Amino acid sequence: MADYTPSLLNKRLVFVTGKGGVGKTAVSVALSLLAARKGMKTLLCEADGSGDLPTYLGVDSVKYSQREIVDKMYAMSMNTEDALREYLHIFMHVPVVGRIGPLANAFDFVASAAPGVKEILITGKLCYEVREKNYDIIVVDSAATGHVISHLAAPQVLNSLVRVGLVNSQTQWMLDILSDHDTTGLLVVATPEEMPVTESIDLIDKVKSETTVGLTAVVMNRVLPELFSKPEEEAFDLLCTERGRQELLDATGMDTALLLQAARLAVELRRTSTVHMDRMRDALDSDTPLINVPYFFDPSTSDVLAGKVADALGEELAT
Ligand SMILES: Nc1ncnc2c1ncn2[C@@H]1O[C@H](COP(=O)(O)OP(=O)(O)OP(=O)(O)O)[C@@H](O)[C@H]1O
Ligand SMILES: [Mg+2]
Repeated sequence: MADYTPSLLNKRLVFVTGKGGVGKTAVSVALSLLAARKGMKTLLCEADGSGDLPTYLGVDSVKYSQREIVDKMYAMSMNTEDALREYLHIFMHVPVVGRIGPLANAFDFVASAAPGVKEILITGKLCYEVREKNYDIIVVDSAATGHVISHLAAPQVLNSLVRVGLVNSQTQWMLDILSDHDTTGLLVVATPEEMPVTESIDLIDKVKSETTVGLTAVVMNRVLPELFSKPEEEAFDLLCTERGRQELLDATGMDTALLLQAARLAVELRRTSTVHMDRMRDALDSDTPLINVPYFFDPSTSDVLAGKVADALGEELAT
């Protein structure tokens, strides 16, 4: 466990992905908070277009232009039109004033004809921030499993389409950043359930076969607490028998059937989740960390939840 910190927080660019709804945004915010707390200048980028980030950060909005949210932690929301404008300005030295309407239309035309064009702008912007060393770490709340590959593989896709010339030379440096496993990493978030684990395993296989990006760690989010210790569980099993229930009824005058059923459900859920957690562990190389984050039952708001997830991540990373 001791080398979790180097492997996760020593990256310059971390893509956080996973099945829809598993906690990508919560974990991205938490990781960013953690990095900022350690004094690292951090950029959190929302690239999934869901617009959930402001509630997690407790702000009205997050835009393309980066803004400091808390000390050392900046946030931005990705948007292809702004990224195109910035690209034209920086790389092509085209002064772009106001809306880039007709150009954006032409771009849309090209982008829908050629795979990887839109994605390259997004990935390119992130790699640019890395290259310029503007931040110690950039955490990307990325698209869900189905789409993230197209972002990670965008430079290869374009490189293979255009083997020489401007496009090639402008994508090779990105590929160098993405392919360097000390610089760039993928953090997959799953929950201990059938589909999220199956999707994560498929995704990890695809990342290996279709991209050059390295898998840094997997976060198992919303892990249910162990209700009982082993002896308590045996005692509980006894209570659940007809005789046990009757004895409880005699002793307390209460029919505890519902109570026991609820506890039984919680125990069963925990047992099944263990099966899925084991499945995830078995699918990973032995040196890939699997980081558990508990289910928090009581967070009042998303930003409070993100703080709790950050504390939990911090504890896991420190042990
Ligand atoms: N550790 C946790 N304990 C309890 N609830 C959690 C935890 N992590 C996330 N949640 C809750 O799970 C839900 C999904 O979380 P989140 O929005 O981070 O997922 P997501 O993967 O970003 O979803 P989407 O695919 O829609 O972007 C939210 O309601 C969030 O409050
Ligand atoms: Mg999200």
